[in-house]
Amino acid sequence: MPAHQLPDDLLDGRVVFLSGGGSGVNLGIARVLADLGADLSLYGRTASRLDEAAEELRGRGARVVTTAGDVRSAEQVAHAFERTEAGLGPVDGVVCGAAGNFVAPAESISSNGFRAVVDIDLLGSFHCAHAAFGQLTRTRGSVLFVTGAQSAGAFAHQSHVGAAKAGVDQLMRTLAVEWGPHGIRSNSLLPGPVHDTEGMRRLAEGGSAPWTDSVPLGRFADAEEVGRMAAVLLSPLAAYVTGTVVHIDGGLALSGPALVNRTVLAPAPRV
Ligand code: COA
Repeated sequence: MPAHQLPDDLLDGRVVFLSGGGSGVNLGIARVLADLGADLSLYGRTASRLDEAAEELRGRGARVVTTAGDVRSAEQVAHAFERTEAGLGPVDGVVCGAAGNFVAPAESISSNGFRAVVDIDLLGSFHCAHAAFGQLTRTRGSVLFVTGAQSAGAFAHQSHVGAAKAGVDQLMRTLAVEWGPHGIRSNSLLPGPVHDTEGMRRLAEGGSAPWTDSVPLGRFADAEEVGRMAAVLLSPLAAYVTGTVVHIDGGLALSGPALVNRTVLAPAPRV
């Protein structure tokens, strides 16, 4: 039995599609899924990054298909699901993890900038779930959205991300209701700060202390800790779990964004 105590055949023969699977939290999830027997389809914008990730995951025993494309294109996403089924079989799980972020005050974000993030996070998640539906009805599988602390807490300079992530969580709930009768589960995983991710490099540019101090457990997560929770939610262990946001944030939601916001925002003039 591996150190994390999950049975190492938990996902044997299951096929999981991951958008954004070539890096960051999503690659951490992919590593754990591979260790538990899953075969993987990685989708992302950068072919070289996908190839590198695929080689590593094959070394962990997974069969891996990669497709380069943008989640903002419904056609490209649909094509990736066709390739997945042809290469590995119909998907049992979909991790909608592709995301975009930059840190900027709302008043300086252009219409195109706001739209870029909403399109990647929200529309892109919809595209993946939508394209997976036919395969998921056959496997009675599940969708797992990766959202973030910005979905529930109001983090400064994250208006675009907060709007997109809150939309993703509500999409998740609606799909749980609509697709439950098809045997398809829909859940969100809400990570707090995670080591070695592009998102946290951007968010904690001014230092990680306010993030660590906001987390009751007092540290960042490793991507593979997030991966273990993803594996549980995608597996039969969570057969009766749907419509839920699972926080894997060390308790950040309890402290909220106040400390982070204080360091992000310049002192506001008092009137
Ligand atoms: N501040 C304000 N606006 C910004 C910005 C910043 N730091 N970075 C990008 N934008 C704006 C651009 O100016 C552009 O708007 P404009 O046309 O009005 O000038 C718009 O966002 C789109 O930028 P572009 O670089 O063309 O889009 P893209 O599709 O190539 O990239 C982003 C999408 C902006 C989300 C980019 O940050 C990205 O690719 N991120 C992926 C990696 C990532 O964010 N990982 C973390 C995930 S949590």
